[in-house]
Amino acid sequence: MINLTINGEPHELDVDPTTPLLWVIREQAGLNGTKFGCGIAQCGACTVHLNGSPIRSCRTPVQAVAGKEITTIEGVGSIDGELHPVQQAWIDEQVPQCGYCQSGQVMSAVALLARNPSPSDRDIDLAMSGNVCRCGTYPRIRRGIKKAAIAMNGAADSGEKING
Ligand code: FES
Repeated sequence: MINLTINGEPHELDVDPTTPLLWVIREQAGLNGTKFGCGIAQCGACTVHLNGSPIRSCRTPVQAVAGKEITTIEGVGSIDGELHPVQQAWIDEQVPQCGYCQSGQVMSAVALLARNPSPSDRDIDLAMSGNVCRCGTYPRIRRGIKKAAIAMNGAADSGEKING
């Protein structure tokens, strides 16, 4: 049995310990917001947080996260259903196109803002470089992150304009 916490809920799982975390999240926990993209940790669609840091769940064996805290896209908002500021900014800026990559994009953006409340364009590009968007929504992702930063910090001192 493997124990882990997903979005604050404890799970005791009877799974092969080499099962990728992605499939445990989707099939055992029933949380389908995290997507299968490339399956080789190259596209970022499967991004979740491990103790607050982004990881690629498609290539993470569940045994490697036993006893740890996993957060998925379903768990980034508040427990009363309020969206995370990044999610709200994604809506306001109409970031998604097809949307397939976007839960992974949001997870990477949330982790970026947790460690860097006022990221520059370069900081954003570096932090988001592992998340591929086949629709090319990168300019809107950048705007969304800046908008969320302002909402979270009143970050008028970010030195960047929303449309920059
Ligand atoms: Fe379509 Fe990113 S919105 S792949």
